Amino acid sequence: MEIRQISVIGAGQMGSGIAQVAAQAGFQVTLLDVSEAFVKRGMERIARQLERGVAKGKWTAAEKDAVLSRLQPTVQLEEAAKDADMVIEAVVEKMEVKTDLFRQLDQKCPTHTILASNTSSLPITEIAAATSRPERVIGMHFMNPVPVMKLVEIIRGLATQDEVYAIVKELAEAMGKVPVEVNDFPGFVSNRVLMPMINEAIYAVYEGVAEPEAVDQVMKLGMNHPMGPLTLADFIGLDTCLYIMETLYEGFGDSKYRPCPLLRKYVKAGWLGKKSGRGFYQYE
Ligand code: CAA
Ligand code: NAD
Repeated sequence: MEIRQISVIGAGQMGSGIAQVAAQAGFQVTLLDVSEAFVKRGMERIARQLERGVAKGKWTAAEKDAVLSRLQPTVQLEEAAKDADMVIEAVVEKMEVKTDLFRQLDQKCPTHTILASNTSSLPITEIAAATSRPERVIGMHFMNPVPVMKLVEIIRGLATQDEVYAIVKELAEAMGKVPVEVNDFPGFVSNRVLMPMINEAIYAVYEGVAEPEAVDQVMKLGMNHPMGPLTLADFIGLDTCLYIMETLYEGFGDSKYRPCPLLRKYVKAGWLGKKSGRGFYQYE
């Protein structure tokens, strides 16, 4: 089976990055979000990134235009579904939102379409069970920022076919990524290791061990991390961090994954990090 048409659902920071990289790899891409304004914002983010690449001499203005011409924005799920060989979902990290979407995609997409989720932590098997084609559902977990980070975690659900795994692995490579297969357990490997560190850094602030700047400096200068954990949490989105911790906490039933109350408080306040202008730090 050949992949030509990819639909990306959710035009936020991950969806727009995935759509950009897919279009740069030569695929026809449809990008969908719930409102015109959100799709427009995603398309503008892609155009900005591509402009930056032209200014840095990474590609020409003509190549940028060719990439943009392969991108089709929409708010109609039917349109995103009808010709898709592959759908990559990148909507909010909530099981009920994802299962509702997968149910609709299952009804609207051709029978051959592969349905992939970019979920950070949620069980692929459970998402797949919302469809009548669990053998064609898979996890394809990109890292943020998508155009820069090499890793894609690939996660099979219980029923995922070998053929589907092979196609998705090849697709990740065609997008310039390095696929790593991991098993379907909460948080997979990436967020089982990363997110408790971020949560612990938030506890350090909550318990008055240090200010956010000091926590970040310790991890940057002491451990050579490119970003401190609180800067990274703001970059990922504090809502996403909280939902991932909740998935680990519920999925393993172990108190070591208890989300820090300060993280919960910030999310309740609408302090979602960089994307909302405020988190552990303030952004213009
Ligand atoms: N989008 C696209 N490209 C970006 C970018 C963005 N948001 N931010 C930076 N870049 C590019 C720059 O254009 C630059 O490219 P060139 O070298 O080709 O010119 C390159 O990245 C380096 O950028 P800078 O020099 O401006 O900045 P930097 O050296 O500080 O690197 C960074 C920025 C790559 C983001 C780096 O800080 C980093 O690696 N941070 C950690 C990122 C990380 O841990 N990501 C994983 C998050 S967890 C996750 O994704 C999983 C999950 O489920 C939550
Ligand atoms: P985001 O908040 O930037 O974007 C999510 C987008 O999905 C929003 O534009 C929203 O309007 C849209 N959306 C919500 N419900 C929708 C629906 N039913 N149909 C269409 N669009 C819908 O979030 P994000 O950071 O891009 O994260 C998206 C997904 O990617 C989550 O599952 C997250 O866990 C995962 N992820 C995030 C990161 C990260 O660092 N932020 C990294 C890897 C994976």
